[in-house]
Amino acid sequence: MKRVAILISGGGSNMRRLVEDMKGDHPARPCLVLSNDPGAGGFARAAEMGVPTAVVDHRAFPDRPAFEAGLTDALEAARADIIALAGFMRILTPPFVARWQGRMLNIHPSLLPKYRGLDTHARAIAAGDAEAGCTVHEVTADLDGGPILGQARVPVLAGDTAADLAARVLVQEHRLYPAVLRRFAVGQRGRLDLSPQAGID
Ligand code: GAR
Repeated sequence: MKRVAILISGGGSNMRRLVEDMKGDHPARPCLVLSNDPGAGGFARAAEMGVPTAVVDHRAFPDRPAFEAGLTDALEAARADIIALAGFMRILTPPFVARWQGRMLNIHPSLLPKYRGLDTHARAIAAGDAEAGCTVHEVTADLDGGPILGQARVPVLAGDTAADLAARVLVQEHRLYPAVLRRFAVGQRGRLDLSPQAGID
């Protein structure tokens, strides 16, 4: 049984979906929800769900390596095998990434390699894209550039605001991330492409 630490900075809706999925015959269990922000909405929710929680507040450390040493301490104490970044909005340095390479996933709200970084939905709309979506990928030192493990697509509709599109994509994030994590936990690295229609709830 793999032990999964989920790192968040915000509302934690993807974290909730991952935790809800890790039950029964699932090959992994949540061992920690870690936030860099004690005010993150998802943090209280994780505790309510009975998952161990930790705060490693980046503002309490003098620099990024010291912050990451704090992350490593918490992750090692939790005996994490896999790290799932779920809206974790701190950039991680190459030494930290190397330490977890092959064991760390991220979800990103675009169809990578398009729109690495921030403001993905506004950029997709501004470009006139007909579709958008989300990607789960392995984390490497190349920001948002690691091997793609899965994608899900949605249409961009006429008149969409960035918030409209973000909400449509988030529904797909909640399908994609649990599906990819299940496969990843048993060593499957092949790419999963969710069909646009199936499973829309
Ligand atoms: C999600 O849309 C996720 O894809 C995005 O932050 C949101 C977190 O939502 N991640 C990134 O932008 C990473 N660069 P959540 O806290 O409700 O899961």
